[in-house]
Amino acid sequence: MNIGAAEHLCPLPHPCGTGLQALMQIVTICEFSYLGLFMKLRSSASLTMGCILLSLVACSDKKDAAEPAGTAKQQPTITVYSERVEHLIKPLFDQYTEETGVPIRFITDGAGPLIARLENEGEATPADILITVDAGNLWQATDKGLLRAIESPLLETNVPAHLQASGNEWFGLSARARTIVYSTERVKPEELSTYEALGAPKWEGRLCLRTAKKVYNQSLVATMINTLGAEKTEEIVKTWVANLATDPYSNDTVALEAVIAGQCDLAIVNTYYFGRMQKENPNIPLAVFWPNQDGRGVHVNISGAGITKHAKHPEAAQKLLEWLSSEEAQYKFAEANEEYPVNPRVKPSPLVQAWGEFKADLVNVEAAGHLQSEAVKLMDRAGYR
Ligand SMILES: [Fe+2]
Repeated sequence: MNIGAAEHLCPLPHPCGTGLQALMQIVTICEFSYLGLFMKLRSSASLTMGCILLSLVACSDKKDAAEPAGTAKQQPTITVYSERVEHLIKPLFDQYTEETGVPIRFITDGAGPLIARLENEGEATPADILITVDAGNLWQATDKGLLRAIESPLLETNVPAHLQASGNEWFGLSARARTIVYSTERVKPEELSTYEALGAPKWEGRLCLRTAKKVYNQSLVATMINTLGAEKTEEIVKTWVANLATDPYSNDTVALEAVIAGQCDLAIVNTYYFGRMQKENPNIPLAVFWPNQDGRGVHVNISGAGITKHAKHPEAAQKLLEWLSSEEAQYKFAEANEEYPVNPRVKPSPLVQAWGEFKADLVNVEAAGHLQSEAVKLMDRAGYR
């Protein structure tokens, strides 16, 4: 979704309000409720009429929100900017609205555009909550002063300390293990041990990696810098690069497909990408290996959320985050994407449980944020692009 373009394409005065906030209201509602229609209108001559139409629809929505029926009365509408995609969050938001009467609006986009949007909107932002799919971007948002500290004994209980910000500006809502997935046809698990050992000569021409441009491997390398130091980490990354079967792939799914196709024998990926493939084909010739079990453990990142500095409904936003971390919501939140619940009282889905238990790296995922730019430079020096 191109939010910037949407704002430029709908520059009409708002028929039911004035000023930036009113414009944001149009844009927000246009985007999350009428995106399909809007995308068609963008390329058509009827764009202006479309904007008027959308603005009017937005007005009727706004009126509905102001005068809701039944239990929704008096309830503030929570607005969420989410990097987590719609099909993973909407069912939970729908359930929350059904149970509490609190309406939730959301838009989805990449973390970069959402953070830039929060910066540009400043105090006028309609966003109460920011959701991202990694800790690095939540750290960036905190560093830019876009999130506020949350005082919540419930979140403290439900989310382990290493999966939340030390200043409580954000909390993990699902954990994502980034591990080794190998070909069951060409690799024996006893040949594997650690992330570092993937640089051994026996894996020459057999390793597949995702591009260094994606935040996931930046976070992995950042946590390695945190634990092993920059010098040692750079040596390791160089040996990975030397063992690559091909140039890095654009995403984890393509890397896994390359392993199946025999282009390489193993890859470092987030387990849920493997889970999605396994769900479609239970006999897929791939398996998960948990590295570094005698040492620091498996690298774990989060999909998590924070409340914006200029949230208009911080109390309602906090209640939603507390509910998302609860036993009631956690299974659904993680299971939707075959991830791990952060709440220690909730087990993952049977498909995920079948991969076995593992020791996770307990380094605070904040390290992925404050060492991210160092990781990017290190990967570049090591020839990992
Ligand atoms: Fe992902």
